Amino acid sequence: MTLSTAFTEMFGVRHPIALAPMGGSAGGALAAAVCRGGGLGLLGAGDGDREWLERQLPLLDGEDAWGIGFLTWATDVAAVERALEHRPRAVMLSFGDPAPYADRVRAAGVALIVQATDIEEARRAVDVGADVIVAQGTESGGHGAGRGRSTLPFVPVVADLAAPVPVLAAGGIADGRGVAAALVLGAAGALVGTRFQATAESLADLSVRRRIVEGTGAETERNRVLDIARGSAWPAKYSARTLGHPYLDRWRGREAELAADPEARRAYRESVAEGELPALPVWAGEAVDLIDDLPSAADLVGAMAAGAEEALARFAPPP
Ligand SMILES: Cc1cc2nc3c(=O)[nH]c(=O)nc-3n(C[C@H](O)[C@H](O)[C@H](O)COP(=O)(O)O)c2cc1C
Repeated sequence: MTLSTAFTEMFGVRHPIALAPMGGSAGGALAAAVCRGGGLGLLGAGDGDREWLERQLPLLDGEDAWGIGFLTWATDVAAVERALEHRPRAVMLSFGDPAPYADRVRAAGVALIVQATDIEEARRAVDVGADVIVAQGTESGGHGAGRGRSTLPFVPVVADLAAPVPVLAAGGIADGRGVAAALVLGAAGALVGTRFQATAESLADLSVRRRIVEGTGAETERNRVLDIARGSAWPAKYSARTLGHPYLDRWRGREAELAADPEARRAYRESVAEGELPALPVWAGEAVDLIDDLPSAADLVGAMAAGAEEALARFAPPP
């Protein structure tokens, strides 16, 4: 059995699996490996840094089903237009109003994927003409709505609201069972982040990948503390799910105090500079318990698809 959905048909991919466009992890090598494995590989372009893209794009030469994801609040029209010149199959926009970019993407004949972290964002995605909508649950690693919704009830609501536009489920999916569950919930596939962060091709530092392998879901926590400490410009609506961090223990629940304390933020930067604190938080989702190796991403796509097929076949009527 192969799992054919509106998503696999739209992009001509073998499996209903997409790589989340993770800034700092999803570079050209990882996106290409996901393409080779039969999924949709999305580069994590963040704000669209030109030099970074110029280094990563050649690694996708020869691949067809690849795209680029931007942080909507951080990028600009020029960066999106530069990306469109490379003829991606998809541009994904997350975290912010997609309207300033939507028409340009669609006019270029490129599929527009919009990630929604709540119902309002899902409605907005429909309004701007998204070709695919990602319904992101709060279990997810990295950034998402501070007051997010759980994947299980959120995905079917978005699937109903968006129909006939295909929806991908995101948040807490790390194996074939999760992909199967996404399909059962009415999604046309799964967008997977944390699991792909822990692969051979990920750009994440080896120490980060090891922490994901060792970490547990119970240790993950949504917070704004680490963004405030780093002086990051993330809009206040979005928090990030990370593994534990000493600074988080010190400032949990005191975000406003931290924001108003330049001395504390300077101390954080100094501790990072002196190597006492890690340079970046480890962004990871609740499904880290399911991750215990660093496989090739191409093999992983195949294993997740096979696991999903097996999980769904268990419920097929006997021949
Ligand atoms: C390390 C990391 C970085 C991320 N960076 C981005 C990003 O730059 N743009 C984006 O749209 N989503 C980003 N995300 C969120 C993913 O798109 C996705 O919603 C999430 O990874 C799904 O949950 P999962 O991690 O449980 O698979 C990131 C996630 C992680 C774990």
